[in-house]
Amino acid sequence: MIRITYQYRTYFLYSSESVLDCLKRNGVSVPNACRGGGCQSCLMRAVTGDVPPRSQGGIRNELQDQNYFLACVCVPENDLEIALPDQSVLKRTVAEVVGKEKLTSNVMRLTLQRWMPFQYKPGQNVNLYRGFKLVRSYAIAGPAEQNDTIEIHVRRIKDGSMSNWIHDELNVGDTVELGEPFGECHYEETELDRNLLLVGTGAGLATLYGVVHDAIARKHSGLIHLFHGVRSKEDLYLVEELNELAAGNGNVNYTPCVSGNAAGEGLTAGRASVVALEQVGDLSGWSVYLSGHPDMVSEMGLLLKTMDHGPEKVRFESFFRGSNQIETAL
Ligand code: FES
Repeated sequence: MIRITYQYRTYFLYSSESVLDCLKRNGVSVPNACRGGGCQSCLMRAVTGDVPPRSQGGIRNELQDQNYFLACVCVPENDLEIALPDQSVLKRTVAEVVGKEKLTSNVMRLTLQRWMPFQYKPGQNVNLYRGFKLVRSYAIAGPAEQNDTIEIHVRRIKDGSMSNWIHDELNVGDTVELGEPFGECHYEETELDRNLLLVGTGAGLATLYGVVHDAIARKHSGLIHLFHGVRSKEDLYLVEELNELAAGNGNVNYTPCVSGNAAGEGLTAGRASVVALEQVGDLSGWSVYLSGHPDMVSEMGLLLKTMDHGPEKVRFESFFRGSNQIETAL
């Protein structure tokens, strides 16, 4: 059996078990969020032993060289002695809550003012820390400009220790810690004249909201079609703002979709992914951004791959694996 040693204790891994799962099974609490290799909140370091290359995916090169790895996707083939990362490599920065606005009954818009500047692209993710062990990833919804505030949208998760704390206890004037921005689901200036299809569900809108604002700020000249899907019309948010954005930019189209009940005036009935493909059709030369529920992201991603006239590029952000709104208790 493979053994891992952490803080002077040794634990035995089951076959195919990840380091994170082994620690959790033994009641050891270490930071984690997505549990799918996407948020880097479970970053650890192998003091001795080799870690599999897959467990270093997405980690900065200098950290890879120092044997850092992601515990949630690390299934070692040899014994390891492991440790939490040095605080210096985490590059956390303090941010003050300067705005808190309820967008729906369970989605909160949080505006954070960073005390230290950091480079980011709207649509990327950032880890938000509450104390040392609780960390969750949220998409940076904006603003497009590099300034000292960022916006995130926090969906309340049943029994979610972070989201309930943010909704109920975190106040304007309080401070939180943020990690380094990460993720590839962001606008690229090389696509200024390319047509863009953006499809998101629920709070996955945050990623796309960031992308569309960044694209407009950079004077994108191709078409931008944004489809936002929810089950119930009460779950839609920023409708007025996005309608105004579309009205003020001739190349931007916005389609709010409701799949579970009567859509209502100005809304489209049906699932956002289905409506989008029906309306846009030929995607040759387009770039597609997907963000939201993992079923939508994986189903539409597969469909796009097999289309006769599929897109040039697909970027995605899924809530479950490596992304921004799934909370799991430690
Ligand atoms: S919990 Fe391991 S990368 Fe997110």
